[in-house]
Amino acid sequence: MTQALYLKWRPRRWEEVVGQQHIIQTLRNAVAAERVAHAYLFAGPRGTGKTTTARLLAKAVNCLHEDPAQRPCDACEHCIAVNEGRFLDLIEIDAASNTSVDDVRALREKINFAPSQGRYKVYIIDEVHMLSTAAFNALLKTLEEPPPHAIFILATTEIHKIPATVLSRCQRHEFRRIPHQEMAAYLEKMVQAEDLHVTPEALALVTRQSTGCLRDAISLLDQLASTGGEVTLETAQSVLGTADNQAVVDVVDALLNGEAGAGLEHIHRALDSGSDPRQFARQVVEYLRGVLLVQWGNAAQVDVPAQQRVQMAQHAAQCSRPALLQVIRAFNGAASEMRTAWQPALPLEMAFLEALNAFGGESLPQESPPARKEGSARPSEGRVTPGEAALPQKEAAPAQPPRETAPPSEAASPQGRLFHQIVSQWKRLVKLALEVDSPVASPVSGLLNSGKALKLKGDVLVIGYPSDLLRERMADPEYLHVAEKALWALTGEKLRVECVVSASTRKQLPPGVNSDGMVATAVRDLGGEVVDMQ
Ligand SMILES: Nc1ncnc2c1ncn2[C@@H]1O[C@H](COP(=O)(O)OP(=O)(O)OP(=O)(O)O)[C@@H](O)[C@H]1O
Ligand SMILES: [Mg+2]
Ligand SMILES: [Zn+2]
Repeated sequence: MTQALYLKWRPRRWEEVVGQQHIIQTLRNAVAAERVAHAYLFAGPRGTGKTTTARLLAKAVNCLHEDPAQRPCDACEHCIAVNEGRFLDLIEIDAASNTSVDDVRALREKINFAPSQGRYKVYIIDEVHMLSTAAFNALLKTLEEPPPHAIFILATTEIHKIPATVLSRCQRHEFRRIPHQEMAAYLEKMVQAEDLHVTPEALALVTRQSTGCLRDAISLLDQLASTGGEVTLETAQSVLGTADNQAVVDVVDALLNGEAGAGLEHIHRALDSGSDPRQFARQVVEYLRGVLLVQWGNAAQVDVPAQQRVQMAQHAAQCSRPALLQVIRAFNGAASEMRTAWQPALPLEMAFLEALNAFGGESLPQESPPARKEGSARPSEGRVTPGEAALPQKEAAPAQPPRETAPPSEAASPQGRLFHQIVSQWKRLVKLALEVDSPVASPVSGLLNSGKALKLKGDVLVIGYPSDLLRERMADPEYLHVAEKALWALTGEKLRVECVVSASTRKQLPPGVNSDGMVATAVRDLGGEVVDMQ
């Protein structure tokens, strides 16, 4: 079996560690000066080099190279023994599976024996936050008076769970996420060395996707390349279940322009092509976080390609800060919401509609029939068009006076949301009706297409028709039943349907059409469209 890439590429020398220069430099200096501390705490996100660095330190303090500044040499007997996992004085303990106080006591007994091979006995305690309180106390005793030949390296992803008493005994190093540029360069090097066939776009996606966790990035790459053949953006996307970043930008565009229909359509297209809804929500959050940083004048902190930063600056100029925060919160909720099997996209759609409300784009329909045409944007004051938006300067943020956040409306109620979902997904409803197992599925679908949701009264959805002729056809119990099934498929709710004639759904006749003629009847009463006029 071939070795996993991330193991093969585990750094064996200080130089090979990326993105943690601040830590590596301090440790190298300590080794060179032979002034290594007796207890370290390495904290930071997963897969950023904590265990790797701990092993390097263990190697360095036991390396046989005569010049301390050259340790670890990665060539002496001890270095090689560490590399091969058979160095007796390197003891790795996984606190996740050795949490008890007895485990720590056993460790304390053994610790007094002198090292058998090297200069130091090095204890690496991984996931140290998993220890029980009693075990922590036992450990603390050891940390208070470590034998001179012992070095402890505690590693954790959750520093807030480490007692202050332990923290105060350790020299602390905080590992950071690997910055985008460094990660990209590292992966590029790996792709070349391993002779993998990965397009730059696919590599960029892997980099973005791994959010600073190098192990994830390497594993992803490994997984993608193992299929053989070239790894393109499309294959990467389908394996990762991620949307093209353009889809994210399109959704944000739709939000800022108050285009409910278009936004939901972008979302569904992304999902149809294999994106995972939670992943998509996460991508939106990531993007909006960038927009927020740009708005605060911290564009330099946004770790994305320059072109995307320009795009973010344009969006930053288009929205107010309070609304932006609210929107990020909404999508963040969708990103962490439990998966619901029957409607996995729902949290994402809800977040979108909530966000739409926050941006004040399209006010959500209320109890009364919406008079406005669906999908029409309400141009809001003080908005800067993308073309005018400049990259914000430090002093000049925000680029516009913050717009007021829309007041919480009834539309935010479950009822309002449900109604809005129905309105904005009307086209889908029309399609769902076609799938209902009934001889009248097709006419019902057509009738839904000519109707319009007016309001939701309790569990009754009122659909308006431009004429009594259509209303009557739809009012057939068999037809209603099909419509109700389609609604159930769309929303998961058992709703009833009622039909009314409504003037607001009456179509305007195109100019030049005789109001008494056949064409007028077709357009006004039967929901027809004029396609061409000669
Ligand atoms: N800073 C880094 N430089 C080079 N490679 C790294 C770095 N961080 C992680 N890697 C790669 O990821 C793999 C895993 O890293 P490591 O075990 O050190 O992570 P960790 O921080 O201990 O993660 P965890 O918190 O999950 O234990 C390494 O074998 C290496 O291939
Ligand atoms: Mg680790
Ligand atoms: Zn050595």
